[in-house]
Amino acid sequence: MTYVVIENCIKCKYTDCVEVCPVDCFYEGKDILVIHPDECIDCGVCEPECPAKAIKPDTEPGLGQWMELNTKYVKIWPNITVKKQPPADAKEWDGVPNKLEKFSPAPGTGD
Ligand code: SF4
Ligand code: F3S
Repeated sequence: MTYVVIENCIKCKYTDCVEVCPVDCFYEGKDILVIHPDECIDCGVCEPECPAKAIKPDTEPGLGQWMELNTKYVKIWPNITVKKQPPADAKEWDGVPNKLEKFSPAPGTGD
Protein backbone atom coordinates (compact mmCIF):
# COMPACT_ATOMS: atom_id res chain seq x y z
CA MET A 1 0.00 0.00 0.00
CA THR A 2 1.02 3.59 -0.55
CA TYR A 3 -0.45 7.05 -0.56
CA VAL A 4 -0.97 8.78 -3.91
CA VAL A 5 -1.00 12.42 -5.03
CA ILE A 6 -4.05 13.13 -7.19
CA GLU A 7 -5.31 15.76 -9.62
CA ASN A 8 -6.03 18.68 -7.33
CA CYS A 9 -2.35 19.07 -6.47
CA ILE A 10 -1.75 20.26 -10.05
CA LYS A 11 -0.84 23.96 -10.00
CA CYS A 12 -1.63 24.20 -6.26
CA LYS A 13 1.54 22.58 -4.92
CA TYR A 14 1.13 23.83 -1.37
CA THR A 15 3.96 21.48 -0.25
CA ASP A 16 2.69 21.20 3.35
CA CYS A 17 2.89 17.45 2.73
CA VAL A 18 6.67 17.29 2.44
CA GLU A 19 7.16 18.81 5.88
CA VAL A 20 5.42 15.95 7.65
CA CYS A 21 6.61 12.92 5.68
CA PRO A 22 8.94 10.91 7.95
CA VAL A 23 10.69 9.20 5.04
CA ASP A 24 10.98 12.15 2.59
CA CYS A 25 9.33 10.28 -0.27
CA PHE A 26 7.88 13.24 -2.20
CA TYR A 27 9.27 14.20 -5.61
CA GLU A 28 8.70 17.49 -7.37
CA GLY A 29 7.47 18.29 -10.85
CA LYS A 30 6.76 21.72 -12.24
CA ASP A 31 3.01 21.40 -11.57
CA ILE A 32 2.55 18.58 -9.05
CA LEU A 33 4.30 16.51 -6.41
CA VAL A 34 4.30 12.70 -6.47
CA ILE A 35 4.86 10.02 -3.82
CA HIS A 36 7.32 7.17 -4.27
CA PRO A 37 5.18 4.05 -3.77
CA ASP A 38 8.13 1.91 -2.67
CA GLU A 39 9.37 4.45 -0.14
CA CYS A 40 6.02 5.47 1.40
CA ILE A 41 5.46 3.67 4.72
CA ASP A 42 1.70 4.28 4.70
CA CYS A 43 1.76 6.38 7.86
CA GLY A 44 -1.04 8.59 6.53
CA VAL A 45 0.12 11.81 8.19
CA CYS A 46 0.36 13.71 4.89
CA GLU A 47 -3.27 13.18 3.88
CA PRO A 48 -4.89 15.62 6.35
CA GLU A 49 -2.05 18.15 5.91
CA CYS A 50 -2.86 18.86 2.24
CA PRO A 51 -5.05 21.99 1.97
CA ALA A 52 -6.16 20.83 -1.49
CA LYS A 53 -7.18 17.34 -0.32
CA ALA A 54 -4.94 15.95 -3.04
CA ILE A 55 -3.50 12.93 -1.21
CA LYS A 56 -5.36 9.62 -0.96
CA PRO A 57 -4.54 6.05 0.09
CA ASP A 58 -4.29 3.69 -2.86
CA THR A 59 -7.03 1.60 -1.28
CA GLU A 60 -9.54 4.14 -2.63
CA PRO A 61 -11.13 3.04 -5.92
CA GLY A 62 -10.44 4.80 -9.22
CA LEU A 63 -6.92 6.02 -8.58
CA GLY A 64 -5.26 3.94 -11.30
CA GLN A 65 -4.08 6.76 -13.53
CA TRP A 66 -2.73 8.69 -10.54
CA MET A 67 -0.90 5.65 -9.28
CA GLU A 68 0.70 5.36 -12.73
CA LEU A 69 1.60 9.05 -12.81
CA ASN A 70 3.17 8.94 -9.32
CA THR A 71 5.12 5.78 -10.12
CA LYS A 72 6.39 7.15 -13.43
CA TYR A 73 7.61 10.55 -12.28
CA VAL A 74 9.33 9.58 -9.03
CA LYS A 75 11.94 8.02 -11.29
CA ILE A 76 12.53 11.30 -13.14
CA TRP A 77 11.87 14.21 -10.78
CA PRO A 78 14.02 15.48 -7.86
CA ASN A 79 13.26 14.72 -4.23
CA ILE A 80 11.69 17.56 -2.22
CA THR A 81 11.96 17.64 1.57
CA VAL A 82 11.34 21.27 2.54
CA LYS A 83 8.14 23.29 2.15
CA LYS A 84 8.37 26.11 -0.38
CA GLN A 85 6.23 29.02 -1.45
CA PRO A 86 3.24 27.75 -3.46
CA PRO A 87 2.54 29.29 -6.88
CA ALA A 88 1.06 32.80 -6.61
CA ASP A 89 -2.17 31.59 -8.24
CA ALA A 90 -2.48 28.36 -6.22
CA LYS A 91 -5.81 29.34 -4.65
CA GLU A 92 -7.33 30.10 -8.06
CA TRP A 93 -6.47 26.58 -9.23
CA ASP A 94 -7.78 24.84 -6.12
CA GLY A 95 -10.79 22.73 -7.14
CA VAL A 96 -10.64 23.49 -10.88
CA PRO A 97 -11.75 20.35 -12.80
CA ASN A 98 -9.74 18.56 -15.49
CA LYS A 99 -6.41 19.97 -14.38
CA LEU A 100 -4.63 16.99 -15.89
CA GLU A 101 -4.96 18.81 -19.24
CA LYS A 102 -2.69 21.52 -17.79
CA PHE A 103 -0.13 19.09 -16.43
CA SER A 104 3.48 19.53 -17.49
CA PRO A 105 5.92 16.61 -17.18
CA ALA A 106 8.80 19.04 -16.51
CA PRO A 107 10.72 18.49 -13.27
CA GLY A 108 10.40 20.96 -10.40
CA THR A 109 13.04 23.60 -9.92
CA GLY A 110 13.82 22.48 -6.38
CA ASP A 111 14.37 26.08 -5.30
FE1 SF4 B 1 5.10 10.09 3.59
FE2 SF4 B 1 3.47 8.88 5.32
FE3 SF4 B 1 2.46 10.35 3.32
FE4 SF4 B 1 3.62 8.01 2.79
S1 SF4 B 1 1.74 8.33 3.97
S2 SF4 B 1 3.92 9.94 1.68
S3 SF4 B 1 5.26 7.99 4.34
S4 SF4 B 1 3.70 11.10 5.04
FE1 F3S C 1 0.19 19.01 -3.50
FE2 F3S C 1 -1.19 19.01 -1.31
FE3 F3S C 1 1.32 18.47 -1.18
S1 F3S C 1 -1.42 20.44 -3.00
S2 F3S C 1 2.18 19.66 -2.84
S3 F3S C 1 -0.20 17.27 -2.23
S4 F3S C 1 0.18 19.69 0.27
